[in-house]
Amino acid sequence: MSTTSVTPQTLAIDGGLPVRANFLPYGRQSVEEADVQAVVEVLRSEWLTTGPKVGEFEEAFASRVGAAHAVSFSSGTAALHAAAFAAGLKVGDEAITTPITFAATANCALYQGATPIFADVSSDTLNLDPEQVARKISANTRAILPVDYAGHPADLMPILEIAQRHGLVVIEDACHALGAEYDGRSVGSIADMTVFSFHPVKHITTGEGGMVTTDNLRFAETLRCFRNHGFSSEARQRLQTGQWQYEMVLLGFNYRLPDIVCALGLEQLKRLEANLARRRAIAAMYAAAFHEIPGVIPPPVRAGVNPAWHLYPIRTDLSRLTANRAQVFRALRAENIGVNVHYIPVYHHPYYRERFGSRIGEFPVAEAAYERLISLPMFHGMNDGDVEDVIHAVEKVLGHYLK
Ligand SMILES: Cc1ncc(COP(=O)(O)O)c(C=O)c1O
Repeated sequence: MSTTSVTPQTLAIDGGLPVRANFLPYGRQSVEEADVQAVVEVLRSEWLTTGPKVGEFEEAFASRVGAAHAVSFSSGTAALHAAAFAAGLKVGDEAITTPITFAATANCALYQGATPIFADVSSDTLNLDPEQVARKISANTRAILPVDYAGHPADLMPILEIAQRHGLVVIEDACHALGAEYDGRSVGSIADMTVFSFHPVKHITTGEGGMVTTDNLRFAETLRCFRNHGFSSEARQRLQTGQWQYEMVLLGFNYRLPDIVCALGLEQLKRLEANLARRRAIAAMYAAAFHEIPGVIPPPVRAGVNPAWHLYPIRTDLSRLTANRAQVFRALRAENIGVNVHYIPVYHHPYYRERFGSRIGEFPVAEAAYERLISLPMFHGMNDGDVEDVIHAVEKVLGHYLK
């Protein structure tokens, strides 16, 4: 294309001017001076790990989500592994989960030698469809692992009812959903165990980190033991009681979250409400704008749900466009909008295909969604100008490809 034909509507991918001069990522952490000071204080203290900040962070977190216990871990993945262990998952068992998730959700069953069984998702929320779950129950099913995709809680009540009927444990993967509400209840206080992640793109961060919340004391004790090599006591407890004895009672790991970053988590937690409010305001701005833009299907919200908006996944209405998702994705990236795709269905991954013989196309709802999904930037540090840039870029690109 010659430069004389370039207009403000010319896509950056076709040689036009991008909507933004600099790249806007899909997610980014916010770290403030108070966070830095809290970390520095711990660095100057007696305990870098297994010290007082661990318990303080856990107590504050449990209280925020309304759970009796919160047990911290070195990552959300470690937390999922521990929850799978505490649920008793073992060789020969099955855990039913969604294909529209990060691989770690299904992998936690594999860590225990169990088999993840996928069930298709509901076409609105892309969360596990309870009817599909019910169809996958077998004599070997031990757990159900719903995911609160993008921060919209899964359909928890019917899933808990199925679990109760069959004596199963529900491990809710709420790595996207800290602060979300379902029927007026806080995510983290509903399932048997709920798992969170503190990766930098999440609502609060500790760099790497995770948490399991539960009301069940037996689960909480097992989780604490599992994250500490399977030992029955922790170093500080032994120091305080003047004891040297400890017993390894199960095969655990070192999955501990150090005091250095628990201090960071405590500071970040103080800003959770502000972070959620900002994410909800951004989602409202997007929804209002996309209502008017043909070719875009914004993520729906069910009645009785208050999502936490970790992601903002739109679906491209391919029936109205001359381009496919990949072309729209590349065009938005060229406009310096850091779009992403969440998720490649887990059963598409070569590991799953080779090990379980899963087929692309196996789950029609997940499959149709995957062909259309694009995650737009969504993080609490976005200013109104950033949000307007995203809306403008979507309008420009989809306007260009509209039939
Ligand atoms: C749905 C889901 N589950 C689990 C994880 C794993 O968490 P982590 O990265 O803290 O190990 C993630 C991470 O992004 C996730 O999105």
